Amino acid sequence: MDKIKVTGGTPLKGQIRVSGSKNTALAIMPVCLLTDQPVELSNIPNVSDVHTLNTLFQQHGVDASFKEGVVHLQASEITNTTAPYDIVSKMRASFWVLGPLLARMGEAKVSLPGGDAIGARPVNFHLKGLEVLGADIELESGYVIAKAPNGLTGGRITMPHVSVGATITLLMAATLAKGETVIVNAAREPDVCDLGECLIKMGAKIEGLGTNIIRIQGVESLSSVSHRIIPDRIEAGSYAVAAAISGGDVELLDADCTHIETFLNFLRATGTAVDKSSDRIRITAPDGRLQPVDITTEAYPGYPTDLQAQMVALMTLAEGTSTITEGIFENRFMHVPELRRMGAKIDVQGKSAIIHGVDELVGAEVMSTDLRASVCLISAGLKAKGDTVVSRVYHLDRGFENLEEKLKACGAQIERLKS
Ligand code: UD1
Repeated sequence: MDKIKVTGGTPLKGQIRVSGSKNTALAIMPVCLLTDQPVELSNIPNVSDVHTLNTLFQQHGVDASFKEGVVHLQASEITNTTAPYDIVSKMRASFWVLGPLLARMGEAKVSLPGGDAIGARPVNFHLKGLEVLGADIELESGYVIAKAPNGLTGGRITMPHVSVGATITLLMAATLAKGETVIVNAAREPDVCDLGECLIKMGAKIEGLGTNIIRIQGVESLSSVSHRIIPDRIEAGSYAVAAAISGGDVELLDADCTHIETFLNFLRATGTAVDKSSDRIRITAPDGRLQPVDITTEAYPGYPTDLQAQMVALMTLAEGTSTITEGIFENRFMHVPELRRMGAKIDVQGKSAIIHGVDELVGAEVMSTDLRASVCLISAGLKAKGDTVVSRVYHLDRGFENLEEKLKACGAQIERLKS
């Protein structure tokens, strides 16, 4: 397994182009299952999660290819409605094929994804919502077996909590259901809005994107589409933290700052300068110490859980104590013991990390436990004294395109140690 070595001490200086959003790509690619027409999606990041999803599509009979940031998908015929355990357990967003397969084919058998490092992550909201749309759902040997032989029918679904994935599943399924579907307490994340925009281009009738009530009028069929994926707000936020922690000055290109307003406000509160223009964000670290902040992660437009680990890393070096509370997942502090190995002083009390800022971090061997934790450890390594070696970087490769090259271009001393 590859590792990444970072030698700390060089402030990042330069420009970083933000890639297309990995999470949005995973949300939108399954639209190909809703139509027999061609789907072309651009600004797709070259990351392993995208390839995993294409592999899954291929075994459903989809003609799927990826070249230079563009995926071409065409499900002229769906030859297999089973999404197997070996793929879904590797990447839980594969579960999102359930809604479109069921809507188009009237049946689907999709492996339950299981828990992962950050929590139990059940799929009950997806399943309850599909039942409201008339699906018959059974669980058998770790698989969801969903049937709607006469098609889905619109209904009113009230989500107990905001769920990005369940909103995605139900939004896609409802586009081909008979009549109107209303999703109450829907997710407002940019990924959901971009999915909705793409579906509208395909002929879907959707209102209320970006609000917590989405209304969908089912249509008979959807047509071909060409759509550009929005920039990756989590990647942008991660490099903003990397710039700030390293004491650097970095301009993020092709970023959409409207998607990370809350994050940028908190970053400013740390004393980091944030200058925004239409598609650029300049991040300049403060001359003195970073200031502590108290944050709770929330559904959009709140502070994103996917930028929690990175902010914990940043606050390890603040002048004072910060409290960062995880409001979405139950077990998302796996990076804390690793940061402690680098000299960070952090107590975890329930859902909160109490971070007592220290004067310096020291390089160490650390292990990444999930995608966002990996980039948190690399950021910490950029400032730590000496070498930090991050293992299990396959997590990083799931979602960050050309991370080493992007950081190197800004002066970082970073290299991949091939196994
Ligand atoms: C997506 C993102 C992930 C992000 C998360 C929250 C992708 C590929 N993943 O994950 O990066 O961290 O949104 O912004 O885009 N829940 C249930 N039952 C359900 C569904 C969810 O209890 O049926 C709970 C989850 O356990 C969690 C919370 O709801 O505590 C939110 O999860 P959800 O928004 O569904 O996350 P994902 O869509 O899996």
